Amino acid sequence: MAAHPRAIERVIEPTPVIEGAGVRLRRSIATATLDYLDPFLLLDNFQSDDPDDYLAGFPWHPHRGIETVTYMLAGEVDHRDSIGNAGMIGAGDVQWMTAGGGIMHEEMPRPGGDGRMGGFQLWVNLPAELKMTRPRYQDLGAARIPEVRRADGSVIRVVAGEVDGVTGAVTEIYAEPAYLDVALPAGASFSQPVPPGHSAFAYAFEGEGQFGVGSDPDGARLVAPRMAVFGDGDEVRVEARGHALRFLLVSGKPLGEPIARYGPFVMNTREELQLALRDLQNDTFVWRDDAEWAQARRTWSPDAWSR
Ligand code: FE2
Repeated sequence: MAAHPRAIERVIEPTPVIEGAGVRLRRSIATATLDYLDPFLLLDNFQSDDPDDYLAGFPWHPHRGIETVTYMLAGEVDHRDSIGNAGMIGAGDVQWMTAGGGIMHEEMPRPGGDGRMGGFQLWVNLPAELKMTRPRYQDLGAARIPEVRRADGSVIRVVAGEVDGVTGAVTEIYAEPAYLDVALPAGASFSQPVPPGHSAFAYAFEGEGQFGVGSDPDGARLVAPRMAVFGDGDEVRVEARGHALRFLLVSGKPLGEPIARYGPFVMNTREELQLALRDLQNDTFVWRDDAEWAQARRTWSPDAWSR
């Protein structure tokens, strides 16, 4: 069957925002321009040589109903959370956190040895059936993220998904995501199958290149930092003409569910948001594996009640 290359539907210029306790970011999803790219709820790019831009960090805050994905290019983020995890995410590492029914955590960036800081945070929506699931982490050091090296000099880090038969480091995610960090030398071409119907975007963060080549014969030129949202099709084609290029290619299965969002909570209805706020006030927000409750849930049923 002939390939159906995806065209670029929109080019998004990142919006500068200040988030957390005063961190300067570039935001491309969750803005007035692009509110939601189902199942992706937010994309932030932090990139700075000035510690004043990020040292205030993200002190303790909750999440519910989503996954947050932190991928570092430079510098470090110290993190700890309400289910007992604590550690550091460094350059090349990824942390795929499924907040599920409720987590509180703290994310504090600091510069690496070279004083630089850079990376991405992506929010991936969870379907109704998993919004209140047990929180889970996939914390993967740089060495555990496979790198595919092609003959033309391209290097593709496979955070999630599959490239040339190599499976990514992060697996078992509902959205069946691909999350690739693609570095192309000048003159290289890249094509990657993306399942029809899945949402897909590229975020150019170094250099420039042609995106969406094939459908619209020449595609569109993206100069970093820019994001391209692809239309439907079964593959993505990119060419690094005249310049080296580095970009993220991310895709995932849309949920097609109603969303109700309020800051770090993303649920299906307003009532569920109100419950999240009430749970925070009542100190019942955080997901707990409480043996007594588990026993109660096993033994109690509506049938038993009606008798
Ligand atoms: Fe967070």
